[in-house]
Amino acid sequence: MGCGASATPAAAPAKAPATGAPAEPDAKMPAAQKSLNKEALSPLFDQHPIRLPCLPGDIMVSGDLPKEVVEQLSAQCAGWLYVNPDTDAHFMPEVVKSAGVQLQVLPLKLDDLPAGRVDEILQSIQTLPRPLMIQCTSANRAALALLMWMARTVGYTGASAELLVKDLALDTMKPEATKWMVDQLHVVGQKNGPLIERSPEVRQLFDPESSTLSYLVACPETQEAVLIDPVLEHKDRDLALISELGLKLIYVLNTHCHADHITSGGLIRKDMPEVKTIISESSGAKADMHIKHGDTVKFGSLALEVRATPGHTDGCVTYVLRTKTATFAFTGDTLLIRGCGRTDFQQGSSRRLYASVHEQIFSLPGDTIICAGHDYKGRSVSTVEEERRFNPRLTKTVEEFEELMANLGLPNPKKIDVAVPANMVCGVQDEPETAEVTTGPPEA
Ligand SMILES: [Fe+2]
Repeated sequence: MGCGASATPAAAPAKAPATGAPAEPDAKMPAAQKSLNKEALSPLFDQHPIRLPCLPGDIMVSGDLPKEVVEQLSAQCAGWLYVNPDTDAHFMPEVVKSAGVQLQVLPLKLDDLPAGRVDEILQSIQTLPRPLMIQCTSANRAALALLMWMARTVGYTGASAELLVKDLALDTMKPEATKWMVDQLHVVGQKNGPLIERSPEVRQLFDPESSTLSYLVACPETQEAVLIDPVLEHKDRDLALISELGLKLIYVLNTHCHADHITSGGLIRKDMPEVKTIISESSGAKADMHIKHGDTVKFGSLALEVRATPGHTDGCVTYVLRTKTATFAFTGDTLLIRGCGRTDFQQGSSRRLYASVHEQIFSLPGDTIICAGHDYKGRSVSTVEEERRFNPRLTKTVEEFEELMANLGLPNPKKIDVAVPANMVCGVQDEPETAEVTTGPPEA
């Protein structure tokens, strides 16, 4: 099992109107009528510093371009963000504007950055019509701006955004720009970050010992809350947070019977009898309530849809949450960021895991936020679309996947002999006398 994610988004705050050239709405061609003809554009990509990353798919980045290429691109774009000064010799505002493109100029100079400029740029990317071009000199800072927007909008940590540089083949981005981005995100090492800025209902918590990611999900209307996959050693931390936020804990849910850490569910329930523990009936583990595929766990105005996703273990489930602003899939160890849980013990089955991911998780909307059960590389969250495209395991054929999983050669988690028996009875029921629950290495 194990492979996980950690969190930290930060939506671009709304700022005052961007400085630079004002946006001009298209007079001749409504933005909605434009779309990218990728086939027609592709020859340009070989000859010029233009990239069209597959995500989000409607935003290009480019460097300096000859006039005829700017004309071709302007004909297909509805928005244009120029991140060099408008005095730049390669700036062709008249060409862009004559095609009815909404243009903004916001210079992005890393060593001389006005206060608030990053936010202005992110806000501009957020609001300019699509298809959108972001242009600089060499497509380095333009790619940086795109990544920053994706990182903050979707909620990546710096490490996640760094991974996207590779996944999106943004080869125009220089290593120093990537480093700058990671530094600027202010998220490195920040593990319980503001998924809340993406959706106030969800908060991510991290256990550095087992690299486990837990989630606090709360109804903003009734303050009723649930904990998903909490870790025994962080019981007090999690309960203090719940108390500080004025929440009322209703349920402790587990996605499966963990082998690498002990759930805090049993102990929380002992202290707070009103809290009910939940796990799937097919896990065979004890809990106050057992759920199965198709069930719904309701609290306040929120509901978790239960999807059976066996494969890592027999009893694995994914909880799907739909809020007003986003859809989340709490995948446990079934699907991890660019990975998946191991399948070589606890009734594991590679073929079942493969089917579970493809049928129950990849079938969700592409912008569904993947909240995994672990991450060993400091990453935050992913999306269904990203994992469909970039997961190095689940993009293989099922036969290739089975072979790969059969040859991982992983040692057992050090905690397995302690954690599995404990979790079969909903975690320990008394405070551990010693922290015998030692930590093991990553599970997958
Ligand atoms: Fe697991």
